[in-house]
Amino acid sequence: MENKTGNLRPRVLSGMRPTGKLHLGNYVGALQNWVKLQHSHECFFFIADWHALTTDYDDTSLVGNNSLEVLLDWLGAGLDPEKCTMFVQSHVRQHAELHLLFSMITPLSWLERVPSYKDQQENLQGKDLLTYGFLGYPLLQAADIVIYRADYVPVGEDQVAHVELTREVARRFNHFFSRSKSVPLLREPQVLLTATPKLLGTDKRKMSKSYGNSILLSDEAAQVEEKIRNSVTDRPKLTDHGSPDRCPVGNLHQIFSDRERLVYITEGCTQATITCVECKVLATQSTDAHLGEIRELRRQKAQNPGLLKEIIEHGTTNAAKVAEETMVAVREAIGLLNVAEVAGLVRKQSDAHLLRTPASIADAKTDEERWDLRVATWIEAIGGTSPLRKDRREVYITRKGRKVGVHAAGESPRGWEFRFEDRKVNVLALITEDKDRCLRAYVLPPRFLEEYSKQFPRNDERVEILVGKDAEGNVALNLKGDVPVSIQQYEGDYSALQ
Ligand code: TRP
Ligand code: SF4
Repeated sequence: MENKTGNLRPRVLSGMRPTGKLHLGNYVGALQNWVKLQHSHECFFFIADWHALTTDYDDTSLVGNNSLEVLLDWLGAGLDPEKCTMFVQSHVRQHAELHLLFSMITPLSWLERVPSYKDQQENLQGKDLLTYGFLGYPLLQAADIVIYRADYVPVGEDQVAHVELTREVARRFNHFFSRSKSVPLLREPQVLLTATPKLLGTDKRKMSKSYGNSILLSDEAAQVEEKIRNSVTDRPKLTDHGSPDRCPVGNLHQIFSDRERLVYITEGCTQATITCVECKVLATQSTDAHLGEIRELRRQKAQNPGLLKEIIEHGTTNAAKVAEETMVAVREAIGLLNVAEVAGLVRKQSDAHLLRTPASIADAKTDEERWDLRVATWIEAIGGTSPLRKDRREVYITRKGRKVGVHAAGESPRGWEFRFEDRKVNVLALITEDKDRCLRAYVLPPRFLEEYSKQFPRNDERVEILVGKDAEGNVALNLKGDVPVSIQQYEGDYSALQ
């Protein structure tokens, strides 16, 4: 399926779990890159709240509020609802639907071998992660990505295996369900590896919410100052030589300071010519110059709940439109029942039992030959219950001696045109053959002929009946003057042939 929205920019999709307010690691490792991408790519960014439930199912009390905090951080950092689509995963139910359908075709072993499966189970000890949802979460991620026909997925190293799984699942789905091999139904996304600058937490371990060593994007100036001031550094003693690479404060300089300052503190640190206290003051300045703007924008947005609601609703609408397009194609490819096709399917079902003219009718040369084939097929088929004896061409006799006029016609753009000699008969059998060679017979009884035969259109002693559909969709025949009369009730009713 084409990546069509009238937007020529390559499409990007990425998501973040709503674990709470974002820290600087989240910012420099992902969000900052997203802010850049929104100018060059068609971007979809979502808050992966269902993903959060795969590990935090035992306390879900914060998930809603955390989703809002993440959105505020995004807006503060400069994601612009005019430039990218932001939404909450659980608001676009199609993700769950595609995840379910993917689960039908995904071998368990593919999920069991995803590295994060075993890793996280070991890391998050004391929590039962032998759940169905946890095993399946990379598959939910695959659905998240594929449903937007994304070209690129900006993620860090830790998520590369998930995008690889996504490609494999899309390929397997296409293998089973794509009609055309040259235009695959589902798009295989590519990783857009985000270079993650090194940023240690204030205790020199990896910056992580759960370690309590993070500087938050939303921290006030005083909190940032305090956290930096209390940071562990790489120089326990003033005389120690250190390295900014191994120091949380040095890392902040590497990310937020200009070249000149970075050169100054790097030299001062490695040569032990500055104090960590001075270095920290400078780091606080550099960091805050960047965070001040974000903090201010975040505060503005947080004061306008109406606007936030609008942003979420607008994003959901945009996202759901694209997701639903994919799902329409997916449901169709799988072959699930589409209500719009009910009428056609019912007709096919009933046609399956219908009588058909032999395919050899295609070789018939004349109208007469065609007539013979249709009539002979019908006469033979009803022979068991209503045997008819041939009297002469177009006239048959029933067991009780009734005269039956038998006529057949193939389908034309106007309907079925019957032209025959005007003979006195008791019963008239009109046999229609449709484009699929299905035969339907309308057996008009004596009382019908008594009432209407005088009004049959005639031309040169020949009757000329046109059978088609009336305004209600019933099969009807035309009479002199324009009023058609329905003969639908006589279809397959052979009671007059006794
Ligand atoms: N699993 C990702 C994480 O834990 C979040 C995520 C969910 C995601 N769905 C995604 C990222 C789709 C990229 C694309 O960080
Ligand atoms: Fe860290 Fe700066 Fe001290 Fe070096 S001088 S250890 S970079 S705080």
